[in-house]
Amino acid sequence: QDTTFKNVISHAKEYGYIFSSSEIYDGLNAVYDYGQNGVELKKNIREYWWKSMVQIHQNIVGLDAAILMHPTTWKASGHVDAFNDPLIDNKDSKKRYRADVLVEDYAEKIHQKAEKEIAKAKKRFGDAFNEEEFVTTNPRVLRYRQEQKEILERLAKSLTDGDLADVKLLIEELGIACPASGSKNWTDVRQFNLMFGTKLGADAETATDLYLRPETAQGIFVNFLNVQKSGRMKIPFGIAQTGKAFRNEIVARQFIFRMREFEQMEMQFFVRPGEELKWYEHWKETRLNWHLSLGLGKENYRFHDHEKLAHYANAAADIEFDFPFGFKELEGIHSRTDFDLKAHEEHSGKKLQFFDPELGENYVPYVVETSIGLDRMFLAVLSKSLVEEDLGNGNSRTVLKLPSILAPTKVAVFPLVKKDGLPELAEQIVEDLKWDFNVLYDEKDAVGKRYRRQDAAGTPFCITVDHDSLEDQTVTIRHRDSMEQSRVNISDLKSIIGKALDF
Ligand code: GAP
Repeated sequence: QDTTFKNVISHAKEYGYIFSSSEIYDGLNAVYDYGQNGVELKKNIREYWWKSMVQIHQNIVGLDAAILMHPTTWKASGHVDAFNDPLIDNKDSKKRYRADVLVEDYAEKIHQKAEKEIAKAKKRFGDAFNEEEFVTTNPRVLRYRQEQKEILERLAKSLTDGDLADVKLLIEELGIACPASGSKNWTDVRQFNLMFGTKLGADAETATDLYLRPETAQGIFVNFLNVQKSGRMKIPFGIAQTGKAFRNEIVARQFIFRMREFEQMEMQFFVRPGEELKWYEHWKETRLNWHLSLGLGKENYRFHDHEKLAHYANAAADIEFDFPFGFKELEGIHSRTDFDLKAHEEHSGKKLQFFDPELGENYVPYVVETSIGLDRMFLAVLSKSLVEEDLGNGNSRTVLKLPSILAPTKVAVFPLVKKDGLPELAEQIVEDLKWDFNVLYDEKDAVGKRYRRQDAAGTPFCITVDHDSLEDQTVTIRHRDSMEQSRVNISDLKSIIGKALDF
């Protein structure tokens, strides 16, 4: 059974995964540091993504563009004019909220009501339950789903039209109360630009205003031709990048779900105009399969196809994940047309075109983008892996069932006792394995306690050296998830562990 969100947050701190930034000064809202285990998990997720996007695709290459970019970039991309959040204040509590999030949360509650009805019926009818029939005929479920759909559609329309008065009206009509005070006394809704500004240059008059990039994608667009020409890339091809992005999120909450400084893993796939929807479907499926390959459970993912599209997109979908606070966006797949490259052509005066030898013509390619937040992926993995397991007879254990390939430490090596030459042999094993895997040595406390400590930290293998090991060069290997133990030759350890971590 999954543990609560609170447990996830405290576990992340206790086991060196995530700390609040500058915690001794009481932290900085929505900014976090990754500890000794967190930095490894994050690196492993990044590498897993990089391997499946860049390494195994001959036509996708990497890039590491700078965080600071020429300011015109953000004019061209539309961020200066349109990268805004609709804010609303509660007049009584003086608390500030994102108006769209208030409405989305309200819609999610309706969604949960429908889910409850389905769960109740499932329980009542047992094996005879036909979910598809139930959700298309049950009047309550139909009403809830319709209500949720109408609310979200109206919100999307008002936001795309820039009709902030209607967003306020929607909040009033739904009777949404301030989560902190219960008051329904709201201000008007207003726009707030999310980009962090900074300055380049020493003196006030000549300094240039810059922005910290709010997405990594623009670094890819402005380098499109550099990469295409220097790499002799032929369409279709992709450019992938991981790196920091910054957004001055006003309502930052839910731990590392919505941060002010975060990391993105993005890939822009450049295609022939007219072929973009085929590639969009391809990347939707490929990205979902990437998630499923980690084995966190198929039921935890769903697509959310956008009905209302941003002005630059002709198709867009989110891969949503069942976070501890419900299904929320984890990754976006967007068919962005030629909007970005065309805008950069206009603003820079430089051509950003590809000569297609098969068609014998020049064109501005269309782009299909996959964009995922690394920190958000981290939260997905961490929250689904943390399990409180009932072992029977009143015993239980806390175990972090991380996919082995992502685990920070792959192997812990223990001497059964701290004498008789067992620590020396255990240390020798650490020396042998450390060139291939992250290994940890632990000799403190009873061996059962050491197992529990590694279970909670997410280490997939524990190796125990005992007196027999000195005689026959075998050790006990224990598997985190099954707790099964077997006896193996020390000389086989590398291949046993290596096999379990195959990409
Ligand atoms: N280039 C497209 C783009 O940036 P987005 O939907 O704004 O699209 C993509 O962001 C992904 O980045 C999201 O699906 C999410 O995983 C992550 N993300 C966005 N804002 C975030 C934040 N404040 N904190 C953590 N992750 C964030």
